[in-house]
Amino acid sequence: MKTLKVLMLMAMTAQASSSYTLASSEEEAARLKRQNTVMLDNAKAHLKKAGLTAGQTLIDIGCGGGDMTLYLAEAVGPKGHVLALDVSEAQLTIARSKIQAAGFKNVTYIHCDIQDAEPAALKEWQDKLDLAYSKLVFMHLTKVEAGVANMTKLLKVGGIAAVQDSIWSESPCQPPYPPLDYYCQKRIELGCKRGQDCKIGAKLEQFFQGPQWAPQDYYVVKTPTALGGDGGYIANFRAALNGSRQHYLDEAILSADELAKMEQGLAATPPKDMVVILTQAYLVAQKI
Ligand SMILES: C[S@@+](CC[C@H](N)C(=O)[O-])C[C@H]1O[C@@H](n2cnc3c(N)ncnc32)[C@H](O)[C@@H]1O
Repeated sequence: MKTLKVLMLMAMTAQASSSYTLASSEEEAARLKRQNTVMLDNAKAHLKKAGLTAGQTLIDIGCGGGDMTLYLAEAVGPKGHVLALDVSEAQLTIARSKIQAAGFKNVTYIHCDIQDAEPAALKEWQDKLDLAYSKLVFMHLTKVEAGVANMTKLLKVGGIAAVQDSIWSESPCQPPYPPLDYYCQKRIELGCKRGQDCKIGAKLEQFFQGPQWAPQDYYVVKTPTALGGDGGYIANFRAALNGSRQHYLDEAILSADELAKMEQGLAATPPKDMVVILTQAYLVAQKI
């Protein structure tokens, strides 16, 4: 049974959107869970500002392994409803099993690319949502405006768009740590080459302007995160690299030798007192 589940996940992983830069595996879901733990308090504060409350109907766009979806399902309660949307069927499967195991019955799973024009799966939800939430997804999109257009259509008048995304730095460590600086520089380059923007957090406001939006709340938070030893947060960078190593070769960002050197660098244990500064941007905008 376990083998069958693994085979199914592998098949679904292979089908996942080729434009997504990271993997859609169990390893990626574990990486997202670690990342979510570090960012959870700020994400909760963001959702509080967005007016998250019991009874709402909302969407978690790019829900990944469902870590925030779980929180949202609990927050809206049995009278509310959550749509968990992802372009990766494999991530949706992981999210579904997590959410079902926790006993929530108020979640609908939608397999869809948020950048598609008029996605059939979203039609019945147009003008119905109180909140459209997206965390760490915009930096993976190649057509952000198309994604925002779908968010806008889903929201009812008075509904809220809440978006969190990254502002990657080429040198995020204190004190500077060359192996991670090198990784960050190359990761930013890879995103650019694939039509994506690892610093999109700095630009979030521009997507929510115009007559359909009330003045918005936008702020940036820098979180110092200790990398620690082997089991620490550096494992996340290694997992991200592992899931996207072929893209570095295909896009000629790194040669095989350079890739091996980068992997070696990230396998070393960083100095104990070193921290990586994670920079995240948060936007709350109301549809009028
Ligand atoms: C970095 S993960 C973030 C997951 C989750 N929001 C979190 O914070 O843990 C990005 C997720 O967005 C999904 N994704 C990427 N491009 C997408 C698209 N065009 N439409 C829908 N989902 C997308 C990926 O499959 C992945 O699960």
